[in-house]
Amino acid sequence: MSWAALASRSALAVGFAAGSLQLLSDDSYDNKHIKVKKAKIKTFRLAEVKQHDGSSKNPWVIRGTSVYDITDWVQAHPGGEVILTAAGGSLEPYWDIFTIHKRQDVYDILEQYKIGEIDGADLKDGRVPQDAIVDPFQNDPERDVRLRTLTPRPRNAETPEAGLREFITPNELFYVRNHFWVPAVDGAEHKLTIELTDGSERTYTVKELKERFQKHKVTTTLQCAGNRRKSMTDGAAPTNGLQWKAGAISTAEWEGVKLVDVLADAGLDIKKLPADAQHVHFSAMEAYGASIPIRKAIDPWGDVLLAFEMNGAELPRDHGYPVRVIVPGTVAARSVKWLSQITISEDESPTQWQQRDYKSFCPSEVKNPNWQKARSIQEMPVTSAITHVEPTTGSNGDVQSISAEGYAYSGGGREIIRVDVSADGGKTWHEAELLDDEAQMSGSRAWCWKRWKYEGQLPEDGKPVSEAVLVVKATDEAYNTQPQTYESIFNARGNLATAWDSAKVPCSG
Ligand code: MTE
Repeated sequence: MSWAALASRSALAVGFAAGSLQLLSDDSYDNKHIKVKKAKIKTFRLAEVKQHDGSSKNPWVIRGTSVYDITDWVQAHPGGEVILTAAGGSLEPYWDIFTIHKRQDVYDILEQYKIGEIDGADLKDGRVPQDAIVDPFQNDPERDVRLRTLTPRPRNAETPEAGLREFITPNELFYVRNHFWVPAVDGAEHKLTIELTDGSERTYTVKELKERFQKHKVTTTLQCAGNRRKSMTDGAAPTNGLQWKAGAISTAEWEGVKLVDVLADAGLDIKKLPADAQHVHFSAMEAYGASIPIRKAIDPWGDVLLAFEMNGAELPRDHGYPVRVIVPGTVAARSVKWLSQITISEDESPTQWQQRDYKSFCPSEVKNPNWQKARSIQEMPVTSAITHVEPTTGSNGDVQSISAEGYAYSGGGREIIRVDVSADGGKTWHEAELLDDEAQMSGSRAWCWKRWKYEGQLPEDGKPVSEAVLVVKATDEAYNTQPQTYESIFNARGNLATAWDSAKVPCSG
C-alpha cells in the first residue's frame, strides 16, 4: 500500500477512534494510479466556534488553527469542567497560564477530538486572533520566598529544610499544593451547604458554624500522596506528576468544629445511618473535590474537622480560608480547602482527584493503568525521611562521625514506634532517638509525624570508606515498615513513594 493510501486510511482510522472527526472525501490517485480517497478537512468560521462555548452541550476549543469538539473529554479532563472556561475560543491563553498542559501527551489526547480547522478567512497572518483573558491567579496571595517552589501558577511549593526540622511547621513554611488559583472569598458571607442522601439541604454561614458548635483542636501532619516522588523517579523509573522531594509534608494545630457534629445537626442520623450514606464528598470553590468513607467522617476518634484556624491564626488563604476539611491520618488530597459543599452519597466522589490522580498500581501497569479497579488512597502508609545531615571531620580530614535528623510518619493514627538508621547502606542498623513532642500534640490518636535524631561514629566496621550511605526506615505501631527499594513499589503516578530514604556522605578528605 502506498504512503498516500496509508496516510488516508490511518486518518480515517483516527476519525473512527475519536468518533467525531468529520472528514469530507473526494477521489484522487496515488503514484501507482490507483483510485484512493483523499481526505479534506472540514473548516469552521470563528463565529460558529464561539457558539460552542462553556454553556453549549457540545463545547469546542481551538488550538493553533485546529478545532476540537471536547464534549467527551470534559469528564476525563484532569481539571474537570474548568476546561469549559476556554470553550468557544482558543486554549492557548489558558495553557500559557496552566503551563502543565504544554506537553506532547496532552497534545496527543486533544488530537483525538479534532473536528477540523478554522476557516482561512478568519485568520490574521495565518493565526487565530487571541482574545485577552482574565488571569485567574491575579489575586493569589504573596508567598514566603523560603518555600521551594515547584510551579508558581498554580502554586505548588515544598517546606524547606528549616520548616521540616520543626515539629509544628510555621504557617508561612507549610507546603502548598494548589491545583488551581486561590479563590478570593469574603469570609463573612461564605456559606457551606450540606446535602443528605434524601436530597435535603442545610446551609451554614462560617459565623454560624463558629458560634453554634463546640470548638476542637487537632494537631495533624498533612502529607501529599506525591511526597518524595522524585526519589521514586530517581530510584526506579520516570513518574507522572510534580517531582516533590521530601517537603510535601508539614504539621499544624488546626482548630474548628467536628464534621460529625455538623452532619448530625444537618439531619444525618449518625446512630442509624441510611444504607446509601457511604461516602462524604467535599467540593471546593475553585473546582476541586474529593471524598472520604463515612466511617472516617463519623468516627468519634477520627477527629475530622471543619477548620477555621491554623496554628492559632485565621486559616491563611493558601491553606483554605475561610474553611477547609482536615482529615487526620488520611492523604492530604482529601483535606479539601475553600470548602463550599458537603454531600453524603452512596458512591465515592466522581472527581478526577478521587477517581484517578491519587491511586497506585502494580509496577508493570504503566501505559494504561486500570483506574477503575485501583482503590483511591485514603490512610497513608509508613514513611520517613532524612532532613538534615552533619558530618564531623577528624584531624586527618576524614569524616569521623555523623549526625542526622528527620521525620517519620504513618497514616490512620498509627504511632511511629521506632526509626532505624544505617550508615553503611543497610548492613548495620542503629535505633534513632525519637524526640518527645507530646506536649505539642492534641487529638484522639497519633496523627503527627515524629522527629528523630541519630549520631554515630564512622566507619561502621573500622575500615575507612570514601562514602557513607546513610539510610533510614521507620516502623509504626502495627509493625508496618518501609520497603527497601523503589522498584518494588513503583507506580507510574509516583504516589506513596515510601522506600527507605538515603543520603550519601563523602568521607575521605
Ligand atoms: N483543596 C482544594 N480546594 N484545592 C486543591 O488544589 N489540593 C489538595 C488538598 N486540598 C487541593 C485541596 C492536595 S492534593 C493537598 S496535598 C492538600 O490540599 C495540600 O494542602 P496545603 O496546600 O494546605 O498544604
